[in-house]
Amino acid sequence: MIDLDAQAESYEQLPYESNPFFESHPGRLATIAYLSGLDPVPIDHCRVLELGCAAGGNLLPAAEALPGSDFVGVDLAPNQIAEGMAIIDALGLKNIRLQAMSLTDITADFGSFDYIIAHGLYSWVPPDVQRRILEICNAHLSPNGVAYVSYNTNPGWRLRGVMRDLLQYGQSELPPQTGLRSRLASGRNFAEMILSAAGDEPTGYRRVLGGEVDMVLKAPDSYIAHEHLEPWHEPIYFREFAARIEERGLAYLGDARSGGGVFRVESRLRQQRPELGANLIHLEQCIDFALGRQFRRSLIVHQDRKIQRPLDAKRLMHCHFTATVFPTAPVDLRPEAQVTFQAHDGGTFATNDVGLKAAIVEIAGAFPQAIGFDQVWKRVRHAMNARIDDLAARLHLAQLLLDMFMADSVEPHLTSPVFVKQIGPKPMATPLARWQAANGRVIHNRRHRGVRSPDAFECSVLALLDGTRDTAALKSITGATDHAIRECLKKLAMNAVLIG
Ligand SMILES: C[S@@+](CC[C@H](N)C(=O)[O-])C[C@H]1O[C@@H](n2cnc3c(N)ncnc32)[C@H](O)[C@@H]1O
Repeated sequence: MIDLDAQAESYEQLPYESNPFFESHPGRLATIAYLSGLDPVPIDHCRVLELGCAAGGNLLPAAEALPGSDFVGVDLAPNQIAEGMAIIDALGLKNIRLQAMSLTDITADFGSFDYIIAHGLYSWVPPDVQRRILEICNAHLSPNGVAYVSYNTNPGWRLRGVMRDLLQYGQSELPPQTGLRSRLASGRNFAEMILSAAGDEPTGYRRVLGGEVDMVLKAPDSYIAHEHLEPWHEPIYFREFAARIEERGLAYLGDARSGGGVFRVESRLRQQRPELGANLIHLEQCIDFALGRQFRRSLIVHQDRKIQRPLDAKRLMHCHFTATVFPTAPVDLRPEAQVTFQAHDGGTFATNDVGLKAAIVEIAGAFPQAIGFDQVWKRVRHAMNARIDDLAARLHLAQLLLDMFMADSVEPHLTSPVFVKQIGPKPMATPLARWQAANGRVIHNRRHRGVRSPDAFECSVLALLDGTRDTAALKSITGATDHAIRECLKKLAMNAVLIG
């Protein structure tokens, strides 16, 4: 039996870095549900519950951006909740509350929620708490609600588990009262020693070990400590998870994020064995075996929902799009020209399809803002010499965009995030970003992501952007040049933190 107090204590010693995860944003959940033929609750008037919310880093940016919706977070660790509540009070947000409690104590009076999120929780809690998470998803999810549960998966975790075994073994000689930080440091030293002993042995195991040790040394302390040193940890096969949700009266909708590998493996599997398409759970399990998947972000709905599979491309015509791949040079739209686009994560995407090239140019040009299907279509039609404007041609574009979404190359939105790219005469940043900049925290943006490494000057300007200061005022306070202020504002606008 795992002691809940001991679990809370481990997060008191080393609080989790509390950040937004765009894959778990209600907007993402609503979009996938909509593309699956469902009728999700509009995110600007919904109720959201997060289990294991840490300091509310995943709820806060959404709550600030969606004042008509209601957000509730629960977490076992009082210090994390207190940290989140301090930010909520500082910003005067009235639509979010965080409670220090065990999710096992959630009662019927919490009411029903349109979106329930449990990120980075399920695999690290004991079986009775795991059961309760799924019970809450059933009992507290509104009829059209969508729940998000992420968890570590086999077979990928069988490899990663070696690292967990190694780190635990490396600190097994320490006295039982040793703090989490010291245990982590000692585990890391041990991992380095083992890797150095492994030398350049030409084995598959050495390659895996090298990658895992590298990750353990570079990733944030809180992540590694809670991932590898928590007493309870249970990675499971997807088919086991699917069986557990079915037992609780719930159904698997899809995953919140797949990626190019999943898309390609699924296409091959469907080609080799068309009959696999009839058994989604089996197909998904085969994908995990082929990819060695380590992590899933599964979406769950009530069993009586009529889920459409595959996703409905037609419905994409009502969506807006943000690019996740970008041209690196002027794009040659001629059919014979193969063009390679670059993804933020270092991946690439190549195509010679005229329509697709034109679509990416249009969507990437609007970045970081999302643009509507009709605007994309206008550009595509122009690129194809305006010969066609019928439903079939629009549907073809929608299908291409759907394939791109499945390959993680474009992000559709049923409701676009609200921020400006055009810098106003007296720029205004979100109150949350201003507070974070002023308090030396990671800055969270309206795309539900962290802003990458802003420098001290950018943070000082950001903290000043309350809509009362023009460039001259910013210059006189910071002592910076016109050019420096303009460049800084441009960068902040591209980072989706400006709202005026
Ligand atoms: C690995 S952290 C993940 C935090 C956050 N969801 C994220 O992904 O950044 C797990 C969180 O779950 C919380 N937790 C563990 N058991 C819990 C329980 N029974 N009830 C509520 N929260 C719990 C911990 O305090 C911790 O903040």
